[in-house]
Amino acid sequence: MAAISHIDPKEALAVKARVEQLSFYYGDAQALNRVSLDLAERRITALIGASGCGKSTFLRCFNRLHDLYPESRYEGQILLKPDDINIISKAVDPLEVRLRIGMVFQKPNPFPKTIFENVAYGLKVRGVRDRHFIEERVEGALRQASLWAETRDRLQDSAMTLSGGQQQRLCIARALAPQPELLLLDEPTSALDPIATANIEELLSELKEQVTILIVTHNMQQAARVSDFTAFMHLGELVEFGDTDTVFTTPRQKKTEDYITGRYG
Ligand SMILES: Nc1ncnc2c1ncn2[C@@H]1O[C@H](COP(=O)(O)OP(=O)(O)OP(=O)(O)O)[C@@H](O)[C@H]1O
Ligand SMILES: [Mg+2]
Repeated sequence: MAAISHIDPKEALAVKARVEQLSFYYGDAQALNRVSLDLAERRITALIGASGCGKSTFLRCFNRLHDLYPESRYEGQILLKPDDINIISKAVDPLEVRLRIGMVFQKPNPFPKTIFENVAYGLKVRGVRDRHFIEERVEGALRQASLWAETRDRLQDSAMTLSGGQQQRLCIARALAPQPELLLLDEPTSALDPIATANIEELLSELKEQVTILIVTHNMQQAARVSDFTAFMHLGELVEFGDTDTVFTTPRQKKTEDYITGRYG
């Protein structure tokens, strides 16, 4: 049975992205099976589910990263609102998609460039040349990612000289600098200490006034704390979707309940 995946019109929320019947295949292996899901504009949606259920695969569809592998295949659509661009259509330029959608991956992946260049990268790709504006955005994004204090005196150092947790916050700053419409985060705090984690959670709550957020997390407390909506996936399928309070207090599906209460092994 398909999960109820669209936002209740009674909620009077705008939809930022509508995923419809999205399937994805790595060669012959199907990793996503007809997933339908709405992302509410300027809200945080948490994507939860056991290891291997397809969360990262789902996120990677949004910036067409799978296109790098000729064996991969999409079905269905991901409509970015308000212009209804189908992100996964071959007719849509992946570069255009990546300009509108920021992504932070499970493993920190800074470019082998300076700290400053990493954060400025998205602005430069967009053709921004105003040095003063770039410097302001770089500082603003580093502050948002709670990394400014540690990097303000070493912006010209290589990003590779940062610790793993600092690199992850740098990747968050890099994603934020161009002010994306949609921000996708794949377990962004799994490499961070509790203080940096709390800072990032606070940041997400502030950011949602400007940007729509989809966050993958294995931390149920985190999902319950930060998100407005929760989607639970199992073996490539969306099992349950709803407002976070409801999903965590009165889930409709036994599988969801087992997972969030830790009974799922
Ligand atoms: N490049 C790939 N080629 C083939 N199969 C892949 C590839 N990447 C992932 N898969 C498979 O797709 C399925 C979903 O993987 P995915 O990485 O999306 O899971 P996940 O939910 O993000 O898990 P985790 O919580 O461990 O990060 C798994 O069965 C995985 O083995
Ligand atoms: Mg993953």
